[in-house]
Amino acid sequence: MTQPSAAITFVVKYLAELPAIYNEVYKEQMEIANSKKPGELLNWDDIQKMRYSWNVACEVMRLAPPLQGAFREAINDFIFAGFSIPKGWKLYWSANSTHRNPECFPEPEKFDPTRFEGNGPAPYTYVPFGGGPRMCPGKEYARLEILVFMHNVVRRFKWEKLLPGEKIIVNPMPIPAEGLPVRLHAHKA
Ligand code: HEM
Repeated sequence: MTQPSAAITFVVKYLAELPAIYNEVYKEQMEIANSKKPGELLNWDDIQKMRYSWNVACEVMRLAPPLQGAFREAINDFIFAGFSIPKGWKLYWSANSTHRNPECFPEPEKFDPTRFEGNGPAPYTYVPFGGGPRMCPGKEYARLEILVFMHNVVRRFKWEKLLPGEKIIVNPMPIPAEGLPVRLHAHKA
């Protein structure tokens, strides 16, 4: 499984679980769909209009970051949270624990896409794509993939999860244990 497909899987999961959020995404995507001529493809301007949908995808990646963290090397001695870290040590930074820190994200368990409105989260608190000079260079491509997927699937379908209590396993990316089976309901024409 690739990182964009992990992100998309969790978009499908959360939109099945949160009908009010699904409805807002649907509204935004139908406005864009209805502004197109029959058969006209999505273009760059349409992607820029998908603000709410992207906030939803960001909130999905906050709660289920496809890459849970990565490694760094300390270039100097420093002290972090009372621990003395010597120069040269390998460190693992964890997106998951930062994303669920109530000091960075009040009520961290709550799914709330409005966290990304305005200036959004403070720098280096929201790190699904990492940060600094080695930040993910595929971020913008991933954004395009996720939003184009959301547009096409939400326009056509609503869906329900077939296994409400399905477990999530992490190996090394988070993935629903049974492959997230869903039942699709096509919108009436
Ligand atoms: C939702 C999708 C994706 C997520 C969440 C993601 C996340 C990440 C993260 C956390 C890192 C480590 C950054 C760091 O150490 O600071 C990374 C690195 C990287 N990603 Fe992504 N990624 C995604 C999609 C992609 C795509 C689509 C591509 C390529 C087309 C890509 C290519 C890379 C490369 C080449 C690196 C290594 C960069 C370096 O070490 O300089 N990623 N990604």
